[in-house]
Amino acid sequence: MKDKLDELRSKAISELDSIDAPSDLDSWRVRYLGRKSALTQVLRGLATLPLEEKRSVGAAANELRAFLEKSLALKEESVRESEVARSIERGRLDVTLPGRPPALGRLHPATQMLRHICDIFLSMGFEVVEGPDVEWEYYNFDALNIPPDHPARDMWDTLWIDFETEDGQRPMLLRTHTSPMQIRVMESRLPPVRVIVPGKVYRYEATDATHEAIFYQIEGFAVDRNITLADLKGTLFEFAKQLFGEERKVRFRCDYFPFVEPGVEMAIDCFACNGAGCSLCSGSGWIEILGAGMVHPDVLRRVNYDPEVYTGFAFGLGVERMSMLKYGIEDIRLFYSNDLRFLRQF
Ligand code: DAH
Repeated sequence: MKDKLDELRSKAISELDSIDAPSDLDSWRVRYLGRKSALTQVLRGLATLPLEEKRSVGAAANELRAFLEKSLALKEESVRESEVARSIERGRLDVTLPGRPPALGRLHPATQMLRHICDIFLSMGFEVVEGPDVEWEYYNFDALNIPPDHPARDMWDTLWIDFETEDGQRPMLLRTHTSPMQIRVMESRLPPVRVIVPGKVYRYEATDATHEAIFYQIEGFAVDRNITLADLKGTLFEFAKQLFGEERKVRFRCDYFPFVEPGVEMAIDCFACNGAGCSLCSGSGWIEILGAGMVHPDVLRRVNYDPEVYTGFAFGLGVERMSMLKYGIEDIRLFYSNDLRFLRQF
């Protein structure tokens, strides 16, 4: 029996050696390892052998099967390799073709604009500070001259946090603007301060082409001795030139924000038509870009800055709005609808 197995081994291996087509490997497998192969017959017949023989023949037959399986696996690999080599020779496989590039990610357009604006103010000596998205009512409203029941609260549609104090008050909210950071920063340091605050803000808002419930703002403010409206105008003029073009003009008009006095709304002359009037500026030649003003004396007093000694300016702008203006994007909802055709343009 042993001899028979040895004979089988040398026959199988010499046949395997001469194979070079994958299909021949299959018939070899059927012949030597298949259900009807001689080896399988020997293994099946083990039960009928006397114990001694069963042991030795069984061990040898199993060893042979393992050996043939391993030889087959090695042969399969080398056949595959020489197939590839032949394809290259025949010119069917062009290994000089460029590979498939992996898809690269990029920064979201709002993030790109946010960083760009921060860079502009950093170059003018401002410092970046961030604040909490969940804010106390006091910082978001009261400290900014917006007491409870004041109609100015209606300017901000508020998302209140479901947190009640012992006396039944609900004093926490998702900040409706980045202005509360004016108070937090001034409370924690002495003038001079020159700070910008980028961050998300939240409004209880029905979305449309120009309104989102969550968007980015950048707040900026500077407080020191002798700061005037001229400093505000000069700073924002420089910002507008850097973002929208060297030849921009700016226009200030009166506006109302409770935490500044006077308050202004700033516009630039339309960069699409240079002030002649077009669809971007609705024919007016001007585009409103942000709100600003001189920090209200009551706000300064609240953080223990003496308004007789210190003055300051503040401004707040919408980041997505700056992108929309600069790139002519007509719907703010595009920023957050995850359409790659939109996002890939930036
Ligand atoms: N916080 C205002 C808003 O969300 C924007 C703003 C206006 C900020 C005037 C200011 C400012 O600092 O002076 O609508």
